[in-house]
Amino acid sequence: MAVNDIKNYMDRCADLVERDLAAAFECGDSDIASLYDAMRYSTLGGGKRIRAFLTLEFCRMFGGDEDSALAFASALEMVHAFSLIHDDLPCMDDDDMRRGKPSCHIKYGEAHALIAGDALIMLAFSHAASAVTDAQTALYAVRVISERAGARGMCGGQAMDMYAESTRVSYEYLCKLQSLKTGALIEAAVMLGCISAGVKDKRMQDAVRYASCIGRAFQIIDDILDIEGDEAILGKHIGSDAESEKTTFVTELGLEGARAEAARLTDEAVACVSGYSGAENLIALAKWLYTRKN
Ligand code: IPE
Ligand code: IPE
Ligand code: MG
Ligand code: MG
Ligand code: MG
Repeated sequence: MAVNDIKNYMDRCADLVERDLAAAFECGDSDIASLYDAMRYSTLGGGKRIRAFLTLEFCRMFGGDEDSALAFASALEMVHAFSLIHDDLPCMDDDDMRRGKPSCHIKYGEAHALIAGDALIMLAFSHAASAVTDAQTALYAVRVISERAGARGMCGGQAMDMYAESTRVSYEYLCKLQSLKTGALIEAAVMLGCISAGVKDKRMQDAVRYASCIGRAFQIIDDILDIEGDEAILGKHIGSDAESEKTTFVTELGLEGARAEAARLTDEAVACVSGYSGAENLIALAKWLYTRKN
């Protein structure tokens, strides 16, 4: 598949997820309508849906049923949306733009943004638990989401990121920080695809190795875009990392070194899945992530 065609294929997957998410946000209680508005505002109508795509695509490649994978994919996008709402808060990165529009706390106020994030986590778990699958599979999925999003996953990475502000940290610390902050949810995404397809053997290990490579490359590109991205395409402000004096892959490797490392990781990711039939979309995704502008 050509690198450009993958974007059309990803858009089709995003539509599927968007419909599932929209249905999950039906409320009908006017007393909490504005909370639901804030949850919808930050989750629907934006985002590349990379994590959802990974879940659906690994499930498809390993012969699973898309219906159960869809609920897991949407649940993960809810967790991701919560992480972005909280990441943008003034006490964290203090960013006022996200996905091309005002951040949740700018639009709804800080308290609402906080609660919308909280509520998204809870909805994510009930959504995953309600997947069209057997109880054991749903429980496994809920555990994976919880572990990869929690203190030993994304939340832990966000804490490490915060401790590293205005402080020079080692490259080893930066890699660990990244593997938790962004890597953990990407790992969860591929695992959920495998779980939906009932796959736990070497195929799951290869999927996780692929996730670890694209996850690192993804954050390297995010750090590069924070310096030389086009805000109009990116949908978020650039310069945020420099402003808070963060150690990033660019401060450590330089722009060219960071690009070279992302390219190396992309090749490694491709090698992890290229032995499987039906891996074309995952190979194209890895290559597209390297060239992405948003
Ligand atoms: C942005 O993630 C935050 C990071 C983990 C670096 P994405 O770039 O996947 O954000 P959306 O979902 O497409 O907006
Ligand atoms: C945020 O990383 C990662 C999570 C939200 C877990 P960044 O702070 O680099 O993400 P952006 O650049 O604001 O999207
Ligand atoms: Mg951050
Ligand atoms: Mg941020
Ligand atoms: Mg960033």
